[in-house]
Amino acid sequence: MKGCIAMEVNVVFQPEGKRVRIKSGSTILEAANLAGADLTSICGGKGKCGKCKVIVEKEKGNVSSIAEAENRFLSSAEISAGYRLACCTSVMGNVVVRIPEESRTGRQRLQVEGIETPVKLEPLVKKYFVKLQGPTLKDPRSDVDRLLDELLVQYGLENLELTYDLVQRLPFILRDSGWEVTVVMRDNEIISLEPGDTTDRIFGYAVDIGTTKLAGYLLDLITGKVIAAGSAMNPQIPYGEDVVTRITYAMKGIKELKELQRAVVGGLNQILADLLEKTGVKREEVYEMTAVGNTAMHHLFLKLNPKFLALSPYTPVLRKEISVNAKRVGVKINSRSYVHVLPVIAGFVGADNVAVILATEIYKRSELCLALDVGTNTEIVLGNKDEMLVCSCASGPAFEGAHIKHGMRAATGAIEKVRIDPETLEVKYWTIDDAKPRGICGSALVDVLAEMLKAGVIDATGTMNKELNSPRLRVCEGVPEFVLAWKKETSIGDDIVVTQRDVRELQLAKAAMNTGAMTLMRKKGVTEKDIDIVFIAGAFGSYIDPESSTVIGMHPEFPLEKVKVVGNAAGTGARMALVSKTCRKTAEEIHGKIRYVELAAEPCFQAEFMNSTFMPYADLNRFPRTSELLRKLGRYPKKPIPTLPCK
Ligand code: FES
Repeated sequence: MKGCIAMEVNVVFQPEGKRVRIKSGSTILEAANLAGADLTSICGGKGKCGKCKVIVEKEKGNVSSIAEAENRFLSSAEISAGYRLACCTSVMGNVVVRIPEESRTGRQRLQVEGIETPVKLEPLVKKYFVKLQGPTLKDPRSDVDRLLDELLVQYGLENLELTYDLVQRLPFILRDSGWEVTVVMRDNEIISLEPGDTTDRIFGYAVDIGTTKLAGYLLDLITGKVIAAGSAMNPQIPYGEDVVTRITYAMKGIKELKELQRAVVGGLNQILADLLEKTGVKREEVYEMTAVGNTAMHHLFLKLNPKFLALSPYTPVLRKEISVNAKRVGVKINSRSYVHVLPVIAGFVGADNVAVILATEIYKRSELCLALDVGTNTEIVLGNKDEMLVCSCASGPAFEGAHIKHGMRAATGAIEKVRIDPETLEVKYWTIDDAKPRGICGSALVDVLAEMLKAGVIDATGTMNKELNSPRLRVCEGVPEFVLAWKKETSIGDDIVVTQRDVRELQLAKAAMNTGAMTLMRKKGVTEKDIDIVFIAGAFGSYIDPESSTVIGMHPEFPLEKVKVVGNAAGTGARMALVSKTCRKTAEEIHGKIRYVELAAEPCFQAEFMNSTFMPYADLNRFPRTSELLRKLGRYPKKPIPTLPCK
C-alpha cells in the first residue's frame, strides 16, 4: 500500500511578499506564523479575539467556507470584500493573502516601566577573584583545600559548599587558568569557577509573568541597574485567555501541564535572548533569576499541578518562596544558577501581588493605601503596615484590546489618548510613534469611555445616545458606534470606531475592578476619605489618565493628588528581589500581614457589581467631583439611578 502524502500548497502574504509552503488544510494563521509574517493573534488562534483579519486576494475558492466565529467578528461588508479570520480559515490550494494594516503587530511599546523604589544593593550572587600558589612537594594540599583556604584568608569566607561536578572540573580550571580564577558564589554555595578575573561581570534576570504579557529585565548586579528590558505576549494564550481555561487545560494531564510550562519558559527565554543580543551579555554571565506572577502563572511556570487552584477552597500547592535550579525549569541562564520565585498569597492572589506590595512599600507605611494592579486579573490591596486586605477580580482582557472592535496592543499607530469636545464632538487623539491610527490601546479605551460620558455620547448606563446629531454617531448593522478617526486619517482603510458592544465589555471590566476596591473598603470599614495613597499599577498603568479612570468609575473617587500611577510595579518588585536579600525576606514576611478576601463569597458582591456597572457608579454621592463635572457639562442623570442595597 502506498503511503499517503499530504498535499502542500503555497501561501503568499502581501504586502511583504512572504511565501510559505504548508500542508493543505492548515490555517492561514499557521502559514503566517511559519512565514514569519506580521499578523496579530491576541487569542492565539482560538477564534475569540477577531484580531487576525486578513483578505484573501487570489484564489478565494481555495479556502474553507466562513466559520461561525467569523460571522461574529466580520461585518457582511467585510465578508463580501474577502475578509477572513486567519485562524478560522484553512487553505486547500494556493492563495494570496493580504494582511491589512489593522492586523499587523507593528513595533510594540514595551510597557515594562515601573516605579523605582530605592533598595540597598545586596544580591545573593557575588564574585571573588583569587590568585593561588600552585602545589609543591612542600605544599601538596588538595585543589579544593587550596581554593577554600585562599577564600578564607583573602575574603573571610567559610563553610562553603562546592558541588560534585565543580569538584570534578576544578583541577583543570585551576591549571588552565594559571591558578587565577573567579569564584561565583550564591550565599555559601560556589556555583561557578571562571578562569581569570571576571568580577566586573555579574548579571541577573527578573521577570513578571502576566496572564497576557511577559516582562523581562536584565540587570547588572554590581550596580543594581536595569541594562535592558523587553516584553512579549504570554505564549500560553493559545491555550486560553484566562487563568481558569489554562488551569483546566493543565488538569488534563502531565503532557498538557508540560506544554504550558514549556510555552511560558520559551517566551521568557526568547525575551532574554533578545536582551542578551542587545547588550552583548553572555548567557553564562546571568547567574540569578527572580520570577513573579499570579498563582496560576506561578504554578504553571514551576510545573506544579494547578488543579486545586480552580476548586474551592482554591488551595495552592506551594505558598512559600522557592529557589530552583535554572536547568530544572528550562530557563536558559547559567546552568548552575537558580531561579527564585517569590511567595504567593492565595489561590488567586499571587507573587505578583507580593511584588506590588514590595514596590509600593505598603507593608511599611503608616498611611492607609489602596493599590490596584490592573490586568486580565486585577489584584487589589488595601491596608498599611498593620494589616493588608487583598482580593483578585476577573476583570478580563478588554483593556488589553481583546473583544474590542478596534482594540489593539500598545504598538505603533495605536491611539493612546483621546479628547472629545463636549460641544462639537470633535475628536483629538494621540497615537504611539505619531503614526496614522490603526486601533485603540488600553489607556485610550479608558479615555474614550470618560470622554464619551462627558460629551453625552453615552449616559451613565453606558447606552449610546442615538438622538445626538453628529455624523460621528451612527448605527452600523444594528449596532450603534462612535467614530473616533475617519477612514482618511487612519492606516487601515476604514473608520476607527467604538461600538456599543465595546462599551459594554469595558463597563464589565471596570465594574469588576471597582467592585473589588469597594468591597475591600467596606470590609475594612473605611471610606474614600480614610485612604491616603492610591496606587494604580499594571503593564499599561503608566499611561492611564487617573482623571479618566475616575470619571468612568474604574475605582472609587479620590483627590487626584492622592493617586500615583506606578506602571509595572510587579516587575519592580521582581527586580528588587533580584538585587536584595532583604527584599526576599520581606516578601516572605508580607504574608503574615495579609488577609485574603474571596470576593464572590462577600454578601454585597452582586449588588456592588451591579452598582459599579454604571458610570461612574450608581450612587453618585460617592463620586462628588465627577458628579459636579457632569452637572457642569449638563450630563448629570435626569433621573436618579437605582442603587442596589447591600444585603
Ligand atoms: S487569533 Fe484569530 S480570532 Fe484571535
